[in-house]
Amino acid sequence: MEWDKGPPPVIRQHFEAAPINEYQSLPNRFRLPWGPIYYRGRMDGSARILVIGQDPGPSESVARRIFVGTAGQRVQGFLKKLGITRSYVMVNALLYSIFGQFNNQLKDFSQRPAVETWRNDLLDLLVAHNPNLQLILTCGNAGKYVLENWAGAAPFRSQRRVSYLIHPTARPVSAVIENWKNRISRLDNFVTPDDPTLVDPTYAGTGFSQSDLADIPLHDFGFGAPEWMGTGRIAKRYTTRPPAGTDRYNTILYRATGDQG
Ligand code: URA
Repeated sequence: MEWDKGPPPVIRQHFEAAPINEYQSLPNRFRLPWGPIYYRGRMDGSARILVIGQDPGPSESVARRIFVGTAGQRVQGFLKKLGITRSYVMVNALLYSIFGQFNNQLKDFSQRPAVETWRNDLLDLLVAHNPNLQLILTCGNAGKYVLENWAGAAPFRSQRRVSYLIHPTARPVSAVIENWKNRISRLDNFVTPDDPTLVDPTYAGTGFSQSDLADIPLHDFGFGAPEWMGTGRIAKRYTTRPPAGTDRYNTILYRATGDQG
């Protein structure tokens, strides 16, 4: 069994200096009780792809890693089609799960000096820590926004080593597939695969089929996570009536999707 060993001191210290108080000043936009969720993927300097997403959901809140639920398994499938099974690192535009959409209010929030400086410093750190970074993928408007407001992205942009993807859970699904199909067809020469036998930059249907998805590997979770953690629908938020005595905004239905730990 191999689990994620966590960030090295330099990145850990940066995570520990996150502008949490800025998030706390906007409690009607962030699910503060779920806590901040920082990253997923390699922290040992071996990443060749950097993925920038939007915000974590209930599955991420349970797993304490980003992009592990439905959206994450779609992104993982995209990476797999490029032959990438472990050489990636992922961060989100926002550390906390948001209420509603990434609208102008959250753009303004993302522009607050403390938030923007911390985020750009993190991205600079990740670039410095991963000397073999070959490609940056952004997911959705928030990911794109982050990229466009980060000076450190310039060398990647000038070499066309950035791809802007529609968010994995945007609707309709057919639009996501169409966009991803188009993007991936231009990317296969940009990345050195972990496993060349997996390279297959195609999407066949108008929805995600099983072969378009990939489980999140155990080595992306913290020590002791059960083997099934990166499969299926791990958790969901109660949207209507949570059990008596629990509140509507913070209650998560956690599902053990495997029958063995
Ligand atoms: N969507 C994102 O953009 N990020 C996550 O971590 C989960 C869903």
